[in-house]
Amino acid sequence: MATLGPEALVDRRQLGGAFGLREAARRMSNFRWAELEILELLGGWSEAMLYPAIRGGFGLQMFTQAVHCRELGWALANLKRAKQRLQAPSDAFVRLCEQIWLAESPLLRLVGLYRVLKPHLLQAELYHADLTDPVGDSFSIHVLQLCAADHQRDLTWGNAQIERLAASRASRAEALAWQEKLEADLAESGGVVAEGAPAWWLPYTDERANADDELVAARRELPGQGELRSQGYTYRKAPSESLLPNGVQPFPAPLRYAADVPGEPRHPDADAPASTPGGLRYAIHQLWLGENRTVDRCGRFITDFPDLPFGLKFDMAQQAWEEARHMEIDAHIIHLLGGSLGMYPFAARMPWRNTVGESNPFVRLLRGHVVFEGSAAAATNRWLAESEGWASSAIRQGLEHLSADERVHIAFGNDWTLRLIGDQPDRLQEAVDETIRQIEGNPGLREWPDRLRQRYLKRALRMT
Ligand SMILES: [Fe+2]
Ligand SMILES: [Fe+2]
Repeated sequence: MATLGPEALVDRRQLGGAFGLREAARRMSNFRWAELEILELLGGWSEAMLYPAIRGGFGLQMFTQAVHCRELGWALANLKRAKQRLQAPSDAFVRLCEQIWLAESPLLRLVGLYRVLKPHLLQAELYHADLTDPVGDSFSIHVLQLCAADHQRDLTWGNAQIERLAASRASRAEALAWQEKLEADLAESGGVVAEGAPAWWLPYTDERANADDELVAARRELPGQGELRSQGYTYRKAPSESLLPNGVQPFPAPLRYAADVPGEPRHPDADAPASTPGGLRYAIHQLWLGENRTVDRCGRFITDFPDLPFGLKFDMAQQAWEEARHMEIDAHIIHLLGGSLGMYPFAARMPWRNTVGESNPFVRLLRGHVVFEGSAAAATNRWLAESEGWASSAIRQGLEHLSADERVHIAFGNDWTLRLIGDQPDRLQEAVDETIRQIEGNPGLREWPDRLRQRYLKRALRMT
């Protein structure tokens, strides 16, 4: 047997990489900015994406994007940079993202995200992971490889959705023209690290070769290019009014609201108890609409309050995934009970703006997370009790997963309210009063005004 020489026992990696600590941190905070930007695009778009299949994928990716932001923040702390630092690479790059945000057709949005922004970010992150210090900066490599694996999975998913939406030659041509325009703007912006495409092969700068290069000239003009900047051009992701006619979330057929089909006879399952297969199927079918809205509600929380702590955004992103999973669980339960989505009209046609347009984040937390999630948890537990003895174990496991997740969501609403305004009696009182004003008179939520007063106002009173 051959013996190993002493050289076989050494670490063959070399200490030192292509970037100093300061430059590595600048690039990593650019990546963190872009990852959060993608999280916000998904969160803000979800409500008007029309297709439930896309909303399902968005839910999962909101969570993985939030994980990328958290892990990049962790790596940035090790690079001597404030943990949650975000740094936009350039104003031109921010404007490119704004263009993508403003696209209204689902196809053009997906093209902007999965054919332009995400492939570019993936390539830049892998390039950084290849060139940074393999010993000293191995934690950044670890984080970037995690991001890259998710991006690759998302690109496969996004491109499949694009293929499905670009069904006609005309829509395919429109998508390609849009992609071409965005790619030109991306090149001019210098990209996510404001440096252009890393396609060089010479180990030095060849000024002669680059003298007439339009890209180089454009990059030179970028304000703050290559500097550490904490501010620059920003924009708010305001919801699109034109995509939600009358403020009501649109759906493709066969999904429909009862109010839109006035002549349709009431289905007997609507009056059946949940202890029967038909009654449970009807209840879960209505619940599916709530899951769908909640994915969007969590996404909009992230875009509507950009200044709230990252930890709160992270929890909203986690819930977005869980609600997207609930959409799938509900669809499976309906199928196991012999039905399909769209077999009933949705009873409620609550104007969308009423549920997500609230300007006080704590009213949103109390109403959406404590009250709505609390009633969903109670309903799920009731269905679990009523389905005992006749529903299959798959159905009951699905209900148990729903119930377990709702407890987590109630805690998000309760804990963040107390953490952020628990020691401010006036703000707590204001949020509770407004929440009660909004839910009072709703027969399904009769016990909640008292519960809210008990839980939060006694506390406010103790503090005054
Ligand atoms: Fe849910
Ligand atoms: Fe929930």
